Amino acid sequence: MIFYFSGTGNSRYAAERLASFTKDELISINDRMKMKHAGEVPDDFSFGSEKPFVFVMPTYAWNLPPVVTEWIEENHFHGSSSAYFIMTCGEDNGSSAAFARHLCDKKNFIYMGCRKVVMPENYIVMYDAPSEEDAEKIVGESEGKLRMIAEYILARKPMGSDKRTAGANFKSTAVNRAFFAMTVKDKKFYATDKCTGCGTCVKVCPLNNICLADGKPEWLGDCTHCMACISGCPTEAIEYGKATAGRRRYRCPD
Ligand SMILES: Cc1cc2nc3c(=O)[nH]c(=O)nc-3n(C[C@H](O)[C@H](O)[C@H](O)COP(=O)(O)O)c2cc1C
Ligand code: SF4
Ligand code: SF4
Repeated sequence: MIFYFSGTGNSRYAAERLASFTKDELISINDRMKMKHAGEVPDDFSFGSEKPFVFVMPTYAWNLPPVVTEWIEENHFHGSSSAYFIMTCGEDNGSSAAFARHLCDKKNFIYMGCRKVVMPENYIVMYDAPSEEDAEKIVGESEGKLRMIAEYILARKPMGSDKRTAGANFKSTAVNRAFFAMTVKDKKFYATDKCTGCGTCVKVCPLNNICLADGKPEWLGDCTHCMACISGCPTEAIEYGKATAGRRRYRCPD
């Protein structure tokens, strides 16, 4: 059973490729989170599969996104006891593997490995997104790694982790904590006059953190900087302070 969380489509794409190679069921964590935040379902779900559990997600500050870790912690998984972790990233997922292993210990999963898959950078509040042409190239180059990962999953073999880069542990701990404490806030989001009140931003936010007031979006203070709203707005009306003015928006090319 393959689960994915995705802000701008990279992790959804990776999960879809894995599901296609392994012929496995695909579940959107975004949809489940939205249902929970809307109060449509209980806080915890129960998922059963005889096939290994595969969790696909973006890298946030050299670690697993906290909202995904929390979501895995609060839900129930039965049938298989094996868990694989696949992290899409612009470049480096630090020492995320250690945190995935720790999560497995908490959930009584057998840790089957944590591998990164390099995809286009989407964090446009800090960096430029690649051009459409470069993005397509990067996405195309992910195919080999995704196939390799699928082979491990099909064979139900441990796949290990990627070689850690210099300072990985420091980045995944101290820098990660400082980043979330200081940067991951929604106060700087606003909509310009280009906003048509279409409601797409409300729909795509996995945390239901946006509502429309007088036809314009308002951010409600529970944001994980997934970039779904700013990158999904059809008129590019959303900005983040001065950081995103004139910057290309990024969505994973289909
Ligand atoms: C809040 C945030 C933090 C990020 N931190 C990292 C990082 O530490 N290392 C990295 O290589 N990419 C980082 N990225 C880039 C994303 O991990 C990468 O583009 C990912 O594929 C996006 O996946 P998605 O389209 O499924 O949301 C970050 C992106 C965001 C939004
Ligand atoms: S997606 Fe863009 S245009 Fe639509 S309501 Fe949100 S900010 Fe306005
Ligand atoms: S407000 Fe925007 S950036 Fe924050 S969680 Fe929702 S969609 Fe993601």
